[in-house]
Formats: sequence, C-alpha cells, structure tokens
Amino acid sequence: MDQAGFKAMWDQMQDAGYFNQHPHYRDYFGQELTAEDRALDAAILDLDFSRDDIEMPAPYSESLERAVKRTEAEWLYKMFRLPESGTALDLGCGFGRSVAWLCERYNQVIATDISGSVIELARRLIKADNVDFYVNDADDLPADINPASVDVAYIFTVFQHIPREFAHKLLGQVADKLRPGGIAVFNLISEVNENLNDGVPETEWAIGYSRGQAYDLIADAGLQCERIVRWYRPENDVSWLWVATRKS
Ligand SMILES: C[S@@+](CC[C@H](N)C(=O)[O-])C[C@H]1O[C@@H](n2cnc3c(N)ncnc32)[C@H](O)[C@@H]1O
Repeated sequence: MDQAGFKAMWDQMQDAGYFNQHPHYRDYFGQELTAEDRALDAAILDLDFSRDDIEMPAPYSESLERAVKRTEAEWLYKMFRLPESGTALDLGCGFGRSVAWLCERYNQVIATDISGSVIELARRLIKADNVDFYVNDADDLPADINPASVDVAYIFTVFQHIPREFAHKLLGQVADKLRPGGIAVFNLISEVNENLNDGVPETEWAIGYSRGQAYDLIADAGLQCERIVRWYRPENDVSWLWVATRKS
C-alpha cells in the first residue's frame, strides 16, 4: 500500500469511530471498572520488572489488554529509566489516551497521528494547555516539530499497524526529533506475522517483529538499544516486546 492509500485507510477507520467501538478502549468511553479490572491492574503492577522475560499475570483477554494500557503510566517507570520532565512526543497518539498522563508528567507534549479526525477528537478530549497536536504522513513527521527538541518519545501499539518500511522510516524521523541522550520507547508484537511486511486489514495489520528484526529497526533509525523486555503469554507464543532506545 502506498503512503496516500494507507493514510486514507486510517482516516476511514477513524471516521467510522475506531476507538469508541474498539474493545481495548471501552473504559475510556464510559465502561465502569469492575473488581476484576482492579485485580488485573494490581497484578500487572506487581510484576517483577527487573526480569527481561515477564509472564503476563493472566491468560490473554480484552480486560487484560485494557489493564495494561490503564496502568502504563506506572509500570513503564518501573521497567525503564525514563526522563521525568522536559518534552515528550506521542506518535500515533489516537484520541489522546496516553497524552492525558503525559501532559501531567512533562512540561510540554507533542502529540501526532496520521488521522486528522482522531486529532480533532483528541483536541476535544484533552483539556491541558501544554500539548501541541499534529497530523503526520504515513512515513513522515511534520517539519514543524523541531529536530533535537524531544526528551522522550512514546509509540504505543502503533508499529504493528504500519507497513514495515514505514515503521523504519518513522523511527528514523523520531530519532531526528530526539535530543542527544533522548529516549524512544515503543512496543512490538512478536512471535507472530514476522514474515509480513504489509498488513492484512482483518488482522488490524498485525505485523510482528522478532528480536532480530527489532534490533534492525533500532539500528536503521540510528538509535542504541537500552533494553528489550518480552511480555509473554503462557497459553500461546504471541508476545510483546517492550523496547527502550537511546539517541547517543
Ligand atoms: C492502536 S491505535 C494506538 C493509539 C495510542 N497510541 C494508544 O495507545 O492509545 C494506533 C494509532 O496509530 C495511528 N497511526 C497509524 N499509522 C500511523 C502513522 N503512520 N503515523 C502516525 N499514526 C499512525 C492510528 O490512527 C491510531 O490512532
């Protein structure tokens, strides 16, 4: 798929209300938390983040997926050494799920997504005044985001939805926006679809990365690998790689 076609596909999915209907985001759109949800949150925060291989605390479910997202602002800092202030970039920010806590933690937040309509939604939902929103192209970041201006970049649950070639180009662009010593953190789906370069819409473009492919992605962007932590499921081979990289 070319860049314009890919952007049009996401615009269409976002116009159709991708997030409001997606089971992974229900608690951000009105679903009350249950006792089971709270127990999952506690189980995630109780994991041993000194380990490089972490077994998920329960079999995979939509509830577990939501709990991982809900608690990210806490466990990320247990797992990686991250800047606690300065400028944060959120690439593929969607409706601003992470932007909300980033605005509380960082002095300035830059939030960008491929879809203009989801950025409009994020503008409505996020009331903070320390965030600037942008719309980016499929494999390019806006020139208005200054090079070497970002202390920490977050790219959550985005690269599995992007043709491999675009992911490589985008991470290179993120590296340009990082200050020397800046950190980029992202997750990759792994041990599944590692032979795909392009996506299959029915699988939400789930493009997987082996550890070796993750190292190639990092090296291509000119970044140094700080740490990769694998979160695995006991019931099947699909895992997440949580990756922290540094610009030297
Ligand atoms: C699964 S959602 C994750 C949203 C958000 N990061 C979160 O964790 O809540 C993937 C997001 O990536 C965006 N996206 C897809 N391709 C992109 C690209 N090339 N550049 C920036 N954003 C992109 C989509 O519009 C969507 O909002």
